[in-house]
Amino acid sequence: MADGRNLLVLPGDGIGPEVMREVRRIVEWLNRRLNLKFEIEEDLVGGAAIDAHGRSLTDATLKLAKDADAVLLGAVGGPKWDKVAFDIRPEAGLLGLRKGLGLFANLRPALCFEALVDASSLKPEIVRGLDILIVRELTGGVYFGTPRGIETLPDGSRRGINTQVYTTEEIRRVARAAFELARVRKGRVTSAEKANVMESGILWREEVTFVHGKEYPDVKLEHMYADNCAMQLVKNPKQFDVIVTDNLFGDILSDEAAMLTGSLGMLPSASLGAKAADGRLPALYEPVHGSAPDIAGRDLANPIATILSFAMALKYSFGLPEEAKRLEAAIERVLATGLRTADIMQPGMAKVSTGVMGESIVRELDKSLE
Ligand code: IPM
Ligand code: MG
Repeated sequence: MADGRNLLVLPGDGIGPEVMREVRRIVEWLNRRLNLKFEIEEDLVGGAAIDAHGRSLTDATLKLAKDADAVLLGAVGGPKWDKVAFDIRPEAGLLGLRKGLGLFANLRPALCFEALVDASSLKPEIVRGLDILIVRELTGGVYFGTPRGIETLPDGSRRGINTQVYTTEEIRRVARAAFELARVRKGRVTSAEKANVMESGILWREEVTFVHGKEYPDVKLEHMYADNCAMQLVKNPKQFDVIVTDNLFGDILSDEAAMLTGSLGMLPSASLGAKAADGRLPALYEPVHGSAPDIAGRDLANPIATILSFAMALKYSFGLPEEAKRLEAAIERVLATGLRTADIMQPGMAKVSTGVMGESIVRELDKSLE
């Protein structure tokens, strides 16, 4: 897979395949109308891979992911695989991709669409115009630290262990990613940790401060304890521009930020690695929402988060920011005409299926060329 634009599509489980079908529609449109020559390869991950191969991520799939220009993932997991061994569970496939591709910077924008201001559980004035970006460290911390495990003590009781661990370089590289992104946004970074309790938090604060002073003095940096950050996010979310934080705090704060916008079904994410000498950027794009097994296969899911994730791929992996904007604008117009999937349905709007939402976005794309 040397030339062209190679996408590895991993639909995964639950609603993954149906939302990914709508992304394929968009890719086909870009190929047909703009001659962009995307090539799609598809493979299994998560529960689907467990069913087929007995593991949630095979070496062959990881190799395909490494060779692709970008990976697009739907969602993994579901009650069907609740009883499989911990190390082959569907989520392990996702964590294996993140680690295997070295995707240390996870970008999770929380953007409140004007058409959905009333869908938030917060007051409209608190969320209107919200545009923040959480940069979550993704390959370190307690998610991967050792020692880890469950052990039985001499008295027969048990002990569960996980280790929060960060090195200088792990902190510096994700801090740089956050500062770079802040430079093309509003120029502000808030770094969140628990330096009042954890040594790894003290190091985090020192290293972020170091990188800031040495390389990014033009960006405004603020430190905040993660618990306060969680509180400030619901109190006054618009005070933030970029939030940089570790893997576990980022997991939690990004779910919180996501819900400010009214629907998890709207939020994309990008996970990026370090650019290689040949200019290749390891990258995986996925919606923030999960596999939603309760509505899977019923054409009810909102495909917008996955389509917006593809828009992020256009921007970060394929150097096509104008096409990303075209796609985002098409989505905004569809929402403005009052079409809603069930998750963002409001009185007076027209409820549509996954497929109709995708078709409507394509129709708006067509109009953008008229
Ligand atoms: C996320 C998810 C994952 C995580 C799970 C599915 C392993 O919650 O991407 O935020 O905890 O990182
Ligand atoms: Mg999460």
